[in-house]
Amino acid sequence: MEDNKKRGGDAPIACEVEAGKKYSWCTCGHSENQPFCDGGHKAAESTPNLRFEAQETGTVYLCTCKLTKNPPYCDGSHNN
Ligand code: FES
Repeated sequence: MEDNKKRGGDAPIACEVEAGKKYSWCTCGHSENQPFCDGGHKAAESTPNLRFEAQETGTVYLCTCKLTKNPPYCDGSHNN
């Protein structure tokens, strides 16, 4: 992958989110706290986290493979 990114996993992780709350999604795959950022991109000199706000309260499936075209959500690209 480009930018020293790596797969943080091979399948999405179901996460409970709250409407209006902000979350920090790992874009680089180096976080030990998938699918969220733990700051690991700094040591890895990789891509920074993506901040996003949940639109609704409920379960979302967040990408861990970092191949999604619809970050932070899984779009099935992990099967490629
Ligand atoms: S886990 Fe990355 S696209 Fe599904």
